[in-house]
Amino acid sequence: MSPAPVLSRAEAFCRRFGLSRPILMGPMAGACPPALAAAVADAGGMGAMGAVLSRPGDIGDWMTAFRTRSGGPAQVNLWVPDPPPHRDAQAEAATRAFLERWGPAVPAAAGDDAPADFDAQFDALVAARPAAASSIMGLFGDAQVRRLKEAGIAWFACATTLDEALRAQAAGADAVVAQGAEAGGHRGAFDADAAERRLSGLFSLLPRLADRLDVPVIAAGGIADGRGIAAALLLGASAVQIGTAFLRTPEAAIPPAWADALADAEPEDCWPTRAFSGRLGRALATGYVRAAAAADAPPPRPYPVQRGLTAPMRRQAAAEGRLEAMQAWTGQSAWLARPAPAAELVETWWRDAVRLLA
Ligand SMILES: Cc1cc2nc3c(=O)[nH]c(=O)nc-3n(C[C@H](O)[C@H](O)[C@H](O)COP(=O)(O)O)c2cc1C
Repeated sequence: MSPAPVLSRAEAFCRRFGLSRPILMGPMAGACPPALAAAVADAGGMGAMGAVLSRPGDIGDWMTAFRTRSGGPAQVNLWVPDPPPHRDAQAEAATRAFLERWGPAVPAAAGDDAPADFDAQFDALVAARPAAASSIMGLFGDAQVRRLKEAGIAWFACATTLDEALRAQAAGADAVVAQGAEAGGHRGAFDADAAERRLSGLFSLLPRLADRLDVPVIAAGGIADGRGIAAALLLGASAVQIGTAFLRTPEAAIPPAWADALADAEPEDCWPTRAFSGRLGRALATGYVRAAAAADAPPPRPYPVQRGLTAPMRRQAAAEGRLEAMQAWTGQSAWLARPAPAAELVETWWRDAVRLLA
């Protein structure tokens, strides 16, 4: 394929969704301050908020903080809830005892900690009027999709398989995010239990989706420079979504121990693990992650029970700057992440991608 249709496909995406460069910041719950999103949007991309952990009121506050900094577009991301988890008091006690080797005592009720109410989060999202709402772990319901359309909010749906992508398109998604297995953070598998068996790399998943879908495809997973962007566009993407490569920017402001460790992480040092939340996600293979993967470690409890049980350890490790027990999400191209301002990264990446595609 000649570069011309590749670039015109990206330009059509940009025109439709209000960008001047086809680069989306990945929504990153816990690592998406408004300053980072605004820097990406001001550089011509799209900012993002990962709102899974946010109270409804925080969503409006985040958008207000974003809008005071940037007139550009942003997406707000929500997790579609899983069915209620199976509880097992004995197994949870074993997990609590294991976790106490890596952090403080874990209260017996820690596993009861539930995320904010999804419907209330969705109401807050619609009221905040971002350019796009994005879903992960499942699909928005019909009534929710109608509300987005009425409000003029685009819907980007994350998919990890062709089947999920076709379901998203049929449900009215305006674009599908093809999440390759390289990606940092949680795996968006609709069926939580099947996530390990469906870890397709972006080079396989992206052209499969691009060849079968009518809606634009946004490539995510392991993209961290102009080469990756050019390759994704050639494989059929209309835009890219980047997470890990923004984590070392000053605007991301993540704990320095996490940011510094990314520079030395080989792709095989970034493990899929359920040890932090019970949902599969890719993180640095720290001491805790390795210990949790050992044959004699207690199996993680389902989401969100495991997330609640690990909260004391995660909080303490972040406060102490102790990487070994920190929740340090990362994609497999961590080593490419550079400690430079986000706008500079976006500009450099896009200039390099256009040169490669010319
Ligand atoms: C720290 C972190 C948190 C993330 N949180 C979310 C999230 O809340 N929702 C979501 O859809 N994706 C989340 N992701 C995935 C990103 O949005 C993005 O798709 C992914 O980072 C792309 O792969 P890369 O990390 O290799 O660039 C997260 C990723 C990271 C690194």
